[in-house]
Amino acid sequence: MNVTVRGQTRPYRTVTFDAQQNAVRLIEQRLLPHEFKIVATKNFRETADAIRDMVVRGAGAIGAAAAYGLAQGARAFRGGNLRKFSAHVGTVYLTLKAARPTAVDPVNAMNDVRRLMARGETVEEQQALALAAAEEFASEDVRHCEAIGRHGAKLIRDGMKLLTHCNAGWLAFVDVGSATAPMYAAQAAGKKFHVFCDETRPRSQGATLTAWELAQQKISHQIIADNAAGHLMQRGEIDLVIVGSDRTLGRTGEVANKIGTYTKAVLAKRHGIPFYVAIPLSTIDWKLKSGFDIPIEDRHEHEVLGAWGVVEKQEAESRKLKTGERAYVRVANPTSGARNPGFDVTSAELITGIITPAGIFKPRELWNRRRSLGKH
Ligand code: MRU
Repeated sequence: MNVTVRGQTRPYRTVTFDAQQNAVRLIEQRLLPHEFKIVATKNFRETADAIRDMVVRGAGAIGAAAAYGLAQGARAFRGGNLRKFSAHVGTVYLTLKAARPTAVDPVNAMNDVRRLMARGETVEEQQALALAAAEEFASEDVRHCEAIGRHGAKLIRDGMKLLTHCNAGWLAFVDVGSATAPMYAAQAAGKKFHVFCDETRPRSQGATLTAWELAQQKISHQIIADNAAGHLMQRGEIDLVIVGSDRTLGRTGEVANKIGTYTKAVLAKRHGIPFYVAIPLSTIDWKLKSGFDIPIEDRHEHEVLGAWGVVEKQEAESRKLKTGERAYVRVANPTSGARNPGFDVTSAELITGIITPAGIFKPRELWNRRRSLGKH
């Protein structure tokens, strides 16, 4: 999508690959919205660190980063011994897989890459196929998000007020986004609407990333505290909810997404507000039989106990700090600990529809449509 930095507007993708340097190039998302910076990881371990430390985050974006990371690791292998090469690729795969457990996109992406690599008969051929497969995953991610936009835009009518949670925008994918794709398509069709972005504590991806994206795209929006959605729904101020997903179970239609999604789905049901989930096909898990089996990331307590931000001018002047510097501030009582589950699971009956690149379906229809939804 287009980004305007210091008056210059140009298109960017969240994740790209520099074949000459064998480096994965990423937008440093932890600095947004205050600073726009591209970083490059020099080897697969650095790519895994970038995924784990959330330099890059969001299901599709970490899927692409993992696919490129696998190609990066494969291409760094020296020699022609296929058996040793396969063992090395196995280590790369497990290192990247372990970086973040809840989203299934990295595993699906790397499985695609490995399947295609296996067609090569030499190390060199497999290395070339790995990069081609990773590039294809990234391009498909963009195509899927664009198709989600075409299907989902029909749900948005002039004058509507939408709610979204966390960031399932283009920063969470290679480009375009899942939950935001219908918004961008509706905007392109000339529709006028307003988006409420849940702040999405503890890491505030809604307040920082989604709000930045919508501002860049000039879409009318406001950030709301996570606890405000129920009140707005009760007053008739929300017409439609669209969220993303980190793992959607093809067998049951259950949706794992950023913590707080389940609460919003319950509230939407209570108020008769349509609740949609937008996903590319790489977010579908065809194996797991229950949402209780989804590995939920337990994250560090400091995310809950404090917050990151930048020092504003007035504060900087009065306290002799540097304006614009990124800082972590402790908010909570100093002697208290915290519990920090990163995701929750929303059951099928709370979801009006799943917006996929192949159309909009009821959550429980996914399994019957598995052939057209990419189940191998
Ligand atoms: O922890 P994050 O930021 O990687 O979480 C991912 C998300 O932003 C959301 O859960 C999102 O709605 C799904 S990712 C497309």
